[in-house]
Amino acid sequence: MFRRRTFWLLVGLLALMVLILAACAPPGGGEKEASGELNLLCTPQVEWCEGMKAEFEKKYPNITVNFVRMSSGESLTRLRNEKDNPQFDIWWGGPVDSFIAAKQEGLLEKYETPAQDKIINKKLMLDPDKYWAGIYVGSLGFATNKNWSDENGGWVPKSWDDLLDPRLKGQLMVAHPSSSGTSYTALCTILQIKGEEAGWEYLKQYAGQVNQFTKSGSAPARFVGAGEAAVGVVFSHDIVKQIENGLPLILSFPEEGTGYEIGGMGIIKGAKNLENAKLWYDWALQPETQELGPKYGAYQAPTVEGAKPSKPELLEVKLIDYDFEWCGKNKKAFVDRFTNEIAGAENLKK
Ligand code: F6P
Repeated sequence: MFRRRTFWLLVGLLALMVLILAACAPPGGGEKEASGELNLLCTPQVEWCEGMKAEFEKKYPNITVNFVRMSSGESLTRLRNEKDNPQFDIWWGGPVDSFIAAKQEGLLEKYETPAQDKIINKKLMLDPDKYWAGIYVGSLGFATNKNWSDENGGWVPKSWDDLLDPRLKGQLMVAHPSSSGTSYTALCTILQIKGEEAGWEYLKQYAGQVNQFTKSGSAPARFVGAGEAAVGVVFSHDIVKQIENGLPLILSFPEEGTGYEIGGMGIIKGAKNLENAKLWYDWALQPETQELGPKYGAYQAPTVEGAKPSKPELLEVKLIDYDFEWCGKNKKAFVDRFTNEIAGAENLKK
């Protein structure tokens, strides 16, 4: 009797010890040892930035992530201005055209992540010199206000030329390419589809249709949904998100082909919290991290093996063979030309 009671007492004690040890063990092995801060420049929508901050801090409980959400072009300007005294450690999100431009200007730090093997298409999604890596993929689409479409016989734009339709005079909404990576992707898509000369001609007419340029790339989906304009040029995942939020929008794609983004990330040259920036970089390339997107309303497709796309249909459309290198290297010149010759960047709608 006594022996049996002692036996169960010992088993109980052992179980208690196992529980205490498990509670004290570093999550995932070693994560507790990392500490300090991480200053994140975050370009995707703010809900996703907030979600990623919380998820990273859950994994690394002794690191505090401070983030600022800024559109791609604004981020690039900020990094240029802070070149001698960088305030951010890592830049996460936004089309890689801007990362190619940032690398060219010496704003990024090279990093060979152990996670790079997981990347599906290294030729497209990983900088050959390892200054940036791709973290998501998304296609450009057109968002049409459903009520406006009903009043116009169910018409929605199905080609880039449709955006020049007289019905859309003052009814088109798009971000300004100086602030937004989305809008720059559209600009560079047009130049590739039409060729440079015809492309710049087209861009003049396209800008003439615009009601008001916005600062952020995804904003036109909201404004078009609210009836402030008829059609917006936005990444398709941002349109889907607003449809899920209940806005009356119809998503369509240009039949001759659409541009797409590879969202990038890169460590900032001179990052003060370099080790923590590397932890974020490695973590952002894990399949379980990339599968977190839909939890925060982000439906971009992942870039690593083992992560399932939430809306694969958004990439099953006709995509152009987008030349990221060309668009990235010419970003400053093209944006300056657009701003100086076609439409200035004053009074952008927030
Ligand atoms: O998160 C939404 C998103 O459209 C991303 O897919 C994209 O990389 C980013 O925003 C671009 O933002 P912006 O056009 O404001 O630079």
